[in-house]
Amino acid sequence: MIRRPFAEMASVGVAVPPGILTNHDLTRMLDTSDEWIVERTGIRERHIARPDQSVAMLSCEASMKALEQAGHTPRDVDAIVLATATPDRLLPSTACDLQALLGAEKAMAFDIAAACPGFLFATGVAEGLIAAGQGEVVLVVGAEKLSTITDFQDRSTAILFGDGAGAAVVRRTSGANGRGILSTFLKSDGKLAPLLYRPGGGAMDPISEKVVCERSHYMKMAGREVFKAAVLTMAEACDEAMRRAGVSAGEIDLLIPHQANIRIIEATAKHAGLPMDKVMVNVDRYGNTSSASIPLALDQAIGEGRVKPGSLLLLVAFGAGFTWGSAVIRW
Ligand code: UT7
Repeated sequence: MIRRPFAEMASVGVAVPPGILTNHDLTRMLDTSDEWIVERTGIRERHIARPDQSVAMLSCEASMKALEQAGHTPRDVDAIVLATATPDRLLPSTACDLQALLGAEKAMAFDIAAACPGFLFATGVAEGLIAAGQGEVVLVVGAEKLSTITDFQDRSTAILFGDGAGAAVVRRTSGANGRGILSTFLKSDGKLAPLLYRPGGGAMDPISEKVVCERSHYMKMAGREVFKAAVLTMAEACDEAMRRAGVSAGEIDLLIPHQANIRIIEATAKHAGLPMDKVMVNVDRYGNTSSASIPLALDQAIGEGRVKPGSLLLLVAFGAGFTWGSAVIRW
């Protein structure tokens, strides 16, 4: 067992594109209704980036805010770990584009592909880099333009997703200030990949006229099966992060779950033994922003005064892969 805490999450920053797509807008494009979407998902609107707003640009805005909050400049950054399911280009990584935009000359930079729990996977990787002596200050980013891989002719997925970015400074701590990442738990089950995936456009079926005609470069999802797996995996992840941190549900000040669906969030809170007034919910405003979801919720919770120095946070997420993960953090 590694001695903890040896890293803290020092700050968070976000970037949200101004464009908004409401449920009412979607009813003009699809056979759906505001009532159906709100009842089944809790989503009312989501933000959509402009074509000229890249994932790296959104990441840069979020990162600058996080760095400033933590009293750092881009020159202090030893590593950039960027989680995304929607890289701007397939080569090189969006993390390298972000490094260039930031002028973070000292850093190593790479992307990780872990879908919705990507921010938690990146946090775990950042902890590992710090523990291994690879650096002191790591920029952890979750950023998405899911609108570019969403099929707006498919009502079962088009209603769910939105764009946005979040960044956090994860840095070495002696633990003396009481803050720190008390546990992380990360898990995957690749057998479940066909329940939520993009069949075409990658190396197995490179982009072609056929891929575009079949719309197989867009996300496909078996919603009901994903829903069930999400409830089970988020429950396991909550239990495991608390067990590893040696804390009980009664000690958690705020649960910050992946914002995919209000019904999944409610089931997760119930399993964890937390009342909804100890759960951060903003799925109504952003929809599912995948790896940006947790930092967007965390940032809002800080802004609303629901996270203060000393707050004990439980973060949990699941997504395509399947992947799932969690963390207990003393803020
Ligand atoms: O980060 C991980 C990403 N994925 C998720 O989190 C998704 C997890 N799954 C879900 O959130 C839910 O399964 C959905 C919101 C996607 C769907 O809700 P559901 O309660 O599981 O509905 P369903 O798929 O069982 O569909 C129920 C009915 C179907 O009609 P029939 O077959 O009963 O006549 C669908 O065709 O609702 C229909 N339907 C819609 N109706 C109006 C599906 N999508 C829509 C829609 N508007 N947008």
